Amino acid sequence: MKRRPLIAGNWKMHKTVPETLAYIEAFKPLVAGVEDRDIMLAPPFTALDAAQRALEGTNISLGAQNCHWESEGAFTGEISPKMLADIGVTYVIIGHSERRHIFGETNEMIRRKIEAALKFSLSPILCIGETLAEREAGRTFEVLEQQLKEGLEGFSTADLKELVIAYEPVWAIGTGKTATPEQAEEAHAFCRKLLKDMFGEEFANKIRILYGGSVKPENIVGLMARPDIDGALVGGASLKPDVFARIVCFGRTE
Ligand code: PGA
Repeated sequence: MKRRPLIAGNWKMHKTVPETLAYIEAFKPLVAGVEDRDIMLAPPFTALDAAQRALEGTNISLGAQNCHWESEGAFTGEISPKMLADIGVTYVIIGHSERRHIFGETNEMIRRKIEAALKFSLSPILCIGETLAEREAGRTFEVLEQQLKEGLEGFSTADLKELVIAYEPVWAIGTGKTATPEQAEEAHAFCRKLLKDMFGEEFANKIRILYGGSVKPENIVGLMARPDIDGALVGGASLKPDVFARIVCFGRTE
């Protein structure tokens, strides 16, 4: 079963408001008329509002890179899903490996963030992936299973209709080392099988599983040819509009 591809750009801690607006200005015409796949940009929080206005009426959706698990309260420095929904954000990346490893996010925090995002009708993009040490110790599937089971515990299939999963092997993020399409497909197929066991076949067949980790215009076609890879979460290569547009437009001839 073919799912609608999603190509998502995660800018991480890059770009001011003027840089964001200049990017969008250049990017929009490069992807205009691309209607057979979903496109998302996730600028930093400070540029979300300006980006939302600049993206209005285009085929490009807006995403945030993180959110808190409460709607409001005494959480200095945090941003809630309610605030993101308020300014027109539609996707939110949750549990990115940089959040897990640099900021100590646990599967339980991630589960709560997903719950909070869903409450405000945001589509969570749940990131999972093993470190190099875990892969070398033969623990890849065990790690993925724990991240999915603990991150998605207690939800129903109806709750998770808009969920997206991103498999991002930590050793491939920002390193230039991409998983081969075979390695990525093996992990994606494992996740889909697990989701089938957890939520049933219909759900598992519908859910999109993106690959992330050094995706470039040169490797997107090989990755997207695999049956269980439904799109990409792109970091470094999403920072230049022309490079990201080439990834978004993979497989199109015009
Ligand atoms: P990268 O980052 O494309 O720079 O490897 C991917 C990500 O962190 O989502």
